[in-house]
Amino acid sequence: MNFQKRTVTCGDLNESHIGQEVILNGWVNVRRDLGSLIFFDLRDRYGITQVVVLPEVNPELEEKAREVRSEDVLWIKGTVRERENKNSNMPTGNIEVLMSEFGIISKSKLPPFEINSKTEVSEELRLKFRYLDLRRAYLQDKFIVRNKVYQTTHRYFDENKFIEIETPVLMKSTPEGARDFLVPSRMNKGKFYALPQSPQIFKQISMVAGFDRYMQIVKCFRDEDLRADRQPEFTQVDVEMSFVDMEDIISIGEGYIKSVWKDILGYEIGEFTRLTYKEAMENYGSDKPDLRYDLKLVSIVDEVSNCDFKVFTDVVSNGGQIAVLNAKGCADYSRKNIDDLTDVAKNYGAKGLAWMKFTEEGVNSPISKFLSEEVIEAIKTKTNAENGDLLLISSDGWSRCYTILGALRQEIAKRTGIFESVKNDFHFSWVTDFPLFEKDDETGAVYAMHHPFTSPNFDDLDKLDESPEKVRSIAYDMVINGAEVGGGSIRIHDQELQSRMFEALGLSKEDANDKFGFLIEALQYGAPPHGGIAFGLDRLVMILTGTENIRDVIAFPKTTSGLSLMDGSPSTVDTTQLSDLGLNLLKKKD
Ligand code: AMO
Ligand code: AMP
Repeated sequence: MNFQKRTVTCGDLNESHIGQEVILNGWVNVRRDLGSLIFFDLRDRYGITQVVVLPEVNPELEEKAREVRSEDVLWIKGTVRERENKNSNMPTGNIEVLMSEFGIISKSKLPPFEINSKTEVSEELRLKFRYLDLRRAYLQDKFIVRNKVYQTTHRYFDENKFIEIETPVLMKSTPEGARDFLVPSRMNKGKFYALPQSPQIFKQISMVAGFDRYMQIVKCFRDEDLRADRQPEFTQVDVEMSFVDMEDIISIGEGYIKSVWKDILGYEIGEFTRLTYKEAMENYGSDKPDLRYDLKLVSIVDEVSNCDFKVFTDVVSNGGQIAVLNAKGCADYSRKNIDDLTDVAKNYGAKGLAWMKFTEEGVNSPISKFLSEEVIEAIKTKTNAENGDLLLISSDGWSRCYTILGALRQEIAKRTGIFESVKNDFHFSWVTDFPLFEKDDETGAVYAMHHPFTSPNFDDLDKLDESPEKVRSIAYDMVINGAEVGGGSIRIHDQELQSRMFEALGLSKEDANDKFGFLIEALQYGAPPHGGIAFGLDRLVMILTGTENIRDVIAFPKTTSGLSLMDGSPSTVDTTQLSDLGLNLLKKKD
């Protein structure tokens, strides 16, 4: 062995150890050379301890100590002593170790960035050298929280009689919403496995198998466009239960999140807010509203339905929506500010953004010429507008109108400091009664909003054939601080209803059998009523650790273009590998 094994870690020592001889192992965080004194900060996962070399006392150590560089791995032996200049910001800040012996276990190349520096380093470089970035306490702390979440998760579900079952990672391709990642089969050339977008079908089948309460901490894979809170492979806390209704799942889900917040943050969650999808959209412009602040939207359809502004009256006659966000105190926004807000609206498909400023001088708006004084007064009253306020008005189809205003609601919260003021708050809610179907406006095709096994609300069954867009589902999402952290539904366990559902989705019997035949078959052998939910574990850890970047909570993440910069995947493979799989690449067109 080329080193002396540690007797304590770099986070262990305090004043009670003064006078003791100890051995530490760790990385050199910094080395400071003051001539008469040389300091190292030695770092490991548990903390940082200051080590001091006195060249006068220990001249034989001096030369070797001057060779030491940041990120070298050392063993050091020494005596704990009280520090002269105490550092109250460090847990070990009252002591230091006076070194008597040491050795360099492993030299480090000059790192491409300083581990302990606060200077900005590009994320690209940090991802390429992820193992160096992961040495920083900022990231390590997040993985310590993540690990605690695993422990609470297993304990909570175990106490509630759930059993963890591993479902396959190589499965049949059954597109759920996103694209599948495919894996070619060598033994069955021309055929492919898919990586699961979620274990949805397997967990339902495990209910048919009688497991009653299933859970799994599981990797899911989705080939979709990535964002700040989306990765192509991410982790779900996946749950399914038999002989239950929505309230049972909500109660288990709330209990779980309460345990997590209590264990990790010592935080007692009170009531969860409940909102229907319609209420969430019409009040906050989102199906995952950030309820830490109010800023509600208001419909002004009644107020403007008879005005002279064609944009509004056309929308009214087409059954659309006209709604307003009152940006309080923003009447002093410049043309440029309003253009920026209009750009936000346009990103969400707006054709324009009308606005109205109220000041001492009266109203200022590009559309006031189309509106009578009475209409303007009615809008002012409906929106509780006062002098100094800026109204942002969207007029479009119901869904787009509210989505645009929802985006502006977030933007205004950021610009006016509301967001900053609630940054450390938590708000927990459930959004329920999602529509069962979603319609593609361009193609007219109907999709399952959640997935095709989600149960319709039984009160709406009579609308399933005639007006499917009006049918609500028994699907629910958990939302924390504007992030969708979980979603689930009660499933259809009745074969006849499932056939009607496929019909409404325009799926022929053959198509349905081809895609989901094994589930449809399984459900014919005595399916218990069942339902479940899946939590996005990465998103939970993001909120618990206060980061907005999902890459901070995944040890080896991908970039937004799906690349892993450290190992260089995805990569090309050699032609033998391809031919073993019976694959040929298409020639790129010039
Ligand atoms: P859903 O698709 O809503 O439901 O996913 C559940 C939760 O997983 C998280 N999530 C993601 N997190 C990070 N990156 C992604 N790309 C990503 N996609 C989803 C979200 C989301 O709320 N089988 C159903 C669950 C069920 O019905 O029981 C499902 O997968 O936090
Ligand atoms: P126009 O008469 O087209 O110049 O539009 C007058 C104002 O209405 C401008 O401020 C436009 O941005 C706004 N506007 C246009 N279309 C919409 C819409 N669909 N919703 C809200 N405002 C709009």
